[in-house]
Amino acid sequence: MKIGELEIERPVILAPMEDVTDRAFRQLCKRHGADIVYTEFISAEALRRGVEKSLRKLKTDPIERPFAIQIFGNTIESMVEAAVIAEEYHPDYLDINFGCPTKKVAGKGAGAALLREPEKMAQISEAVVKAVKIPVTAKTRIGWDFDSINILDVLPRLEDAGIQALALHGRTRSQMYKGKADWSWIRATKERARIPIIANGDIWSADDAVAMFAETGADGVMIGRGSIGNPFIFEEAKALLTTGKPLPLPDFRHRIAAAIEHLQLSVQFKGEKYGVLEMRRHYSTYLKGLPMVSRVRNKLVREESWELVIELLLAYQQECEGYARDGKIHVGGEYLNDHSEKLILNY
Ligand SMILES: Cc1cc2nc3c(=O)[nH]c(=O)nc-3n(C[C@H](O)[C@H](O)[C@H](O)COP(=O)(O)O)c2cc1C
Repeated sequence: MKIGELEIERPVILAPMEDVTDRAFRQLCKRHGADIVYTEFISAEALRRGVEKSLRKLKTDPIERPFAIQIFGNTIESMVEAAVIAEEYHPDYLDINFGCPTKKVAGKGAGAALLREPEKMAQISEAVVKAVKIPVTAKTRIGWDFDSINILDVLPRLEDAGIQALALHGRTRSQMYKGKADWSWIRATKERARIPIIANGDIWSADDAVAMFAETGADGVMIGRGSIGNPFIFEEAKALLTTGKPLPLPDFRHRIAAAIEHLQLSVQFKGEKYGVLEMRRHYSTYLKGLPMVSRVRNKLVREESWELVIELLLAYQQECEGYARDGKIHVGGEYLNDHSEKLILNY
């Protein structure tokens, strides 16, 4: 896949996710093999007004390269201004969000709402492309709802506007995150595309990543929810794609180590108070399916010192060692759902 100077064969990419793909999580995913990472989306309006929280989201480190900064907005002016600001932070490329379905974004005419205004979508794209020297890409969904799937109409407009790659989530806006992503629309889009297509939606395992490439013919794949609490998915997908052989699944030691690493990065970038606070939502996915997990989880989400959180995690690891020795760690149980079944313990 080629975007400007950047050339990577069959990249496995971390999707932009608000409140998830901050600096800490991006760097964790990089360490685990993600080829490209995206920032959380950043409001163009907030950037042009110099809102501190949004400006902070532009910060990255060299280890994250190649990375994309993603912006969203509903006017040409704000998007152009935000693009120029974002360019100063030297991303490998700039991505425009045309896919967010939420009220606070789509409800204000930005994100997926622009799928209902393909003309304006093209105008924003063209103006942003002209405003910066770096490549500009877009991320969108297949349409607003089932009755108005228009990705095949949107694609050439974006191409003509100078968009250099398209990440496509195989759902409509009205589906939000329900139902299943329809990969056949990604395939149909790829078949007509002159630019690289990055396929996105419901990749929960390395096998899914391989299947996504095979079924869509896409140039790259992008993983969102499947990476939360599971950064291993990148190295697993890369290994399967390049060698055809699966890596062993991570066991409790790997998962606890990743949680600790994530916490340390989080504290490094956000300080103890917010670093610890923001990690709280992640423990349940790192520890999902492990024995007696609710007890430790309850303690983890109350602890305020990062050092004590690490102590709790290491003590829990010792506990798990005991369960493993006694043959008492087993697969299955109330904490497993479709997702975590793919994260199952491996002995
Ligand atoms: C918590 C969360 C936050 C998200 N934030 C963004 C965002 O900031 N920008 C964006 O383009 N998509 C965002 N998405 C959508 C994902 O990038 C991705 O398109 C979607 O989750 C489908 O991929 P998946 O099935 O691999 O999760 C978000 C999704 C989730 C679950």
